Amino acid sequence: MSRFIALEGADGCGKSTQVDRLAAWLTEDGQQVVTVREPGSTSLGERVRAILLDGDEPLCSEAEALLFLASRTQLLDEVIEPALSQGKWVIADRFHLSTVVYQGLAGKLGEQRAVELCQVVLAERRPSLNIVLEIPADELMQRIEQRSQQSDRFESRPGLAERTVAAFATVVGIPGDRIIRIDGTSSADDVEAMIRREVTDVLR
Ligand code: TYD
Repeated sequence: MSRFIALEGADGCGKSTQVDRLAAWLTEDGQQVVTVREPGSTSLGERVRAILLDGDEPLCSEAEALLFLASRTQLLDEVIEPALSQGKWVIADRFHLSTVVYQGLAGKLGEQRAVELCQVVLAERRPSLNIVLEIPADELMQRIEQRSQQSDRFESRPGLAERTVAAFATVVGIPGDRIIRIDGTSSADDVEAMIRREVTDVLR
């Protein structure tokens, strides 16, 4: 899935801004681009998102991971695969590495089980490039505190920011995954330039 790129990183790392910038750059270049966010971007996905982010809904760790995967597989079927087969680019704000990190390495499921579930459900339907924006946990905490919105299920888990930062620094994903790490503390323009370079490499 060569025109399929995921931006990843802990909450507050700036990836949503970079998803928009990357999509704008590719569009200016005459490419057709579809952006998706995870979980969500389909009718089922948005309903699943509401359940997942609502901290009051009891969810065991397997059910949590499977809901992310249900949303993702619907997104592949409904949006991503049709777009790629029409020659469009797909830029995803999070994809399976988030499950390996949040539910696996930093969550209760464990890395092995999270990778296993992702592998079974997704097989080869994965991004050709996963770009992780890295920011130290203390800087992330400051950014999150400056946001006015209420914390969701994940943001309110104690110590999660530190665990996800550490997990994104080491995650290898599913065998065959291509993961590039970029310093997210640089200015948005510099981060954008670094991402462009990596994406240009994919085109070669
Ligand atoms: P979102 O509002 O998309 O956060 P952000 O804008 O920071 O990406 O919320 C998604 C939350 O769900 C986020 O805290 C990360 C978490 N998440 C998982 O735990 N597992 C997953 O597989 C995905 C895609 C997200």
